[in-house]
Amino acid sequence: MQLTTAILSLFAAAASAAPASGSACPAPTRKFGIMALRSASPIHFASVGASQNGIALNLPDNKLDAKCTDGKARKDATFYIKDEELYLYGKGDVVQQFLVDRSGMGQGVVRYFTKGPTPPGGRLEVKGWAIDKNDNLAFNGTGLQACPNTVDGSWNIWLKVVDKPAQQEGCLPFTGRTITAKKPVQCTYSDYVPA
Ligand SMILES: *[C@@H]1O[C@H](CO)[C@@H](O)[C@H](O)[C@H]1NC(C)=O
Repeated sequence: MQLTTAILSLFAAAASAAPASGSACPAPTRKFGIMALRSASPIHFASVGASQNGIALNLPDNKLDAKCTDGKARKDATFYIKDEELYLYGKGDVVQQFLVDRSGMGQGVVRYFTKGPTPPGGRLEVKGWAIDKNDNLAFNGTGLQACPNTVDGSWNIWLKVVDKPAQQEGCLPFTGRTITAKKPVQCTYSDYVPA
């Protein structure tokens, strides 16, 4: 848990920076959801959701806490990629973007944060996301894995950099198949609040 706490405090700092003002209107880029493919497993066909700065499969009801323009709770988040950077499809001035940390410290952690005036630095990377010819999402060729949260039954998503990120057991690599969202809904996803 030490690792997670250290990383989360980084995001808290990033999030407290003012949101980018005057950011351009989103370009008409493809909006997509992500479905996990890992046959004969509890995560096969699960959709990727976003809550508390992380993405996960099989989010429990109490983490379906995005605020969306249609007012509905949803298990699946909507994403887009611009200039090799991955974003949540949002609304208003709040731009929520993903970063990864592939270093030995971050072990492939994937987090979203509210984009501020200064991009994250050091080990934190934002550029490198791409969708391959089979419609699968990867970060510079590295795919995804999901690690079981034994408390609430969800599966937290990491880049597949090491087998046991943060010493978690039972992580399963999966194919992140992007599926075009025909009627994408804009949402603002929740931030992690330390207990
Ligand atoms: C991306 O992957 C290629 C091929 O594995 C590697 O040569 C390159 O250094 C990587 N780029 C980054 C930024 O990690």
